[in-house]
Amino acid sequence: MKKLKVADGIYMLTMNVEDILFEGIWDIANGVTLNSYIVKGDKTAIIDGVVGWDGAPENLYSSMEELGVDPKSIDYLIVNHMEPDHSGWIEDFRKIKDDFTIICTDKAAQLVTSFYGEDKIRIVKEGDTLDLGQGKVLSFHPVPNVHWPDTMYTYEQSTKTLFSCDMFAAFGSMKDHYFDDEMTPEEVEFFEFEGIRYYSNVMTTFTPSLRRAIDKARTLDISIVAPGHGPVYRANPQKIIDDYHRFSLYAQGSGKNQVAILWGSMYGMTKRAVEFVERILQREGVKYTKLEMPLNSESETVAQVFQSAAVIIGTPTYEYNMFPPVAAALSEIGRKKISGKVAFRFGSFGWSGGAEKELAEITEKYKMNWEFLESVEFQGSPKDEHFNQIEARVLELIEKMKEKVVE
Ligand code: FEO
Repeated sequence: MKKLKVADGIYMLTMNVEDILFEGIWDIANGVTLNSYIVKGDKTAIIDGVVGWDGAPENLYSSMEELGVDPKSIDYLIVNHMEPDHSGWIEDFRKIKDDFTIICTDKAAQLVTSFYGEDKIRIVKEGDTLDLGQGKVLSFHPVPNVHWPDTMYTYEQSTKTLFSCDMFAAFGSMKDHYFDDEMTPEEVEFFEFEGIRYYSNVMTTFTPSLRRAIDKARTLDISIVAPGHGPVYRANPQKIIDDYHRFSLYAQGSGKNQVAILWGSMYGMTKRAVEFVERILQREGVKYTKLEMPLNSESETVAQVFQSAAVIIGTPTYEYNMFPPVAAALSEIGRKKISGKVAFRFGSFGWSGGAEKELAEITEKYKMNWEFLESVEFQGSPKDEHFNQIEARVLELIEKMKEKVVE
C-alpha cells in the first residue's frame, strides 16, 4: 500500500488490485486502485476504506501507523458510498475500535446497518459540515444514483479538495505516478481509456444522475479531485470533470472518431466480410477496433463500443437467432443503456435466417434507439453483390458518424 500526502493534513493510502473480476463481472485487464483518504485535524476522519483484497485492511492499519495515525485514534468513518470495495472493512475495523461514528447519507445508513449491523451513524444532508479542528472542515453533498442511491461527495473546505469516490474514477493500476501533474503523455492516455472503461462498465446506466453530479461538482470551488479509484487531479481538476461530461455524451450516442466492429463467426463466412470491412476502413483512413466474440472480454467490448461514434456488427444466424456470443455482448451493451449509436449489421446464414429478428428484439427490449443502416445478409459465403452492398453501407456509415463525433 502506497502512502502519499495530498495536501496539508490530507493523506492518500492507495493499493493496486489485479486479477479480480470487479463487481464479480468485469475482467479488468489493467487492474484497479483502491484509494482511502485520511483527514487530520484535532479529530481524524478516514474517507472510504478498502475491502479485504491483498492483505487489506491489515495493511491499511499499518500504513496509517507509518503516517503517524493510530488507527484507534480515528473518530469518523466517512462513507461516501456503501459498495463494499469502499466499505467492506468496517466490520473488521469494529474489532479494533468501538467508539467511532459513521457519517453517510440516509440511504447509505440503511445499507450500512443491513450489511454490517452498524448503528452509530450520523446521517448528513446537503451542506452539512463536520469541523475536525485545525482548520479542517468537511462538508457533505449527496449525489444520488452515482451509481448507487446512497452516494455523496465529501469536500474539505480549507484545501478545496473534493473526495468524489466513484465519480471521476478510473480503472488501471498506478505504478510510479499518482497525481495528474506527474503523468507522462502515455499515462494520461492510459488513464483516459481506463476512465472510459470505468464509466462504461460501472456507471453508464445512471448517466442522467451522473450529469447532475457533474453539475454539482461545478458549483464547488475545487482545487483537488481525489477519487476512490485512479489518479488524483491537483494540477488541472477541471480536466477530469470535463472528461466525465464527455463520457456522458458517449453514453447517449456520441463518440470518438472511430468504429467498433463487434463480430463473431462460426466457420469463417462472416469473417470474410469483416476482413473486407477492415480493408475499406483502412482505405478510408478510419480508425477502428475489432471485438471478436466470445474471445474479447466484456469489459473491453463495452468500453470500446461506448467510446466509438459508430458500430459495425458482424454476426451469422445460429439456430434461428444471432450468434449467441454477439447477442450476449449486445444485450450487455443494451442493459448498460448505451444508446443512440449509428450502426450497421451484416452476416451469413445457412438453412434459415433469424439473426436480424433477434437484433431487433434486443435493441427494442433495451430501448437502445440505435440508428441502423439496412443490413446485408448472405447465404453461406458473401458474393460480389454482397461485398458491393457492404462497401456502400460502410461508406454511408462513415458519413453518418461524422455527426456523432465528440473528442
Ligand atoms: Fe468503487 Fe461503486 O464502488
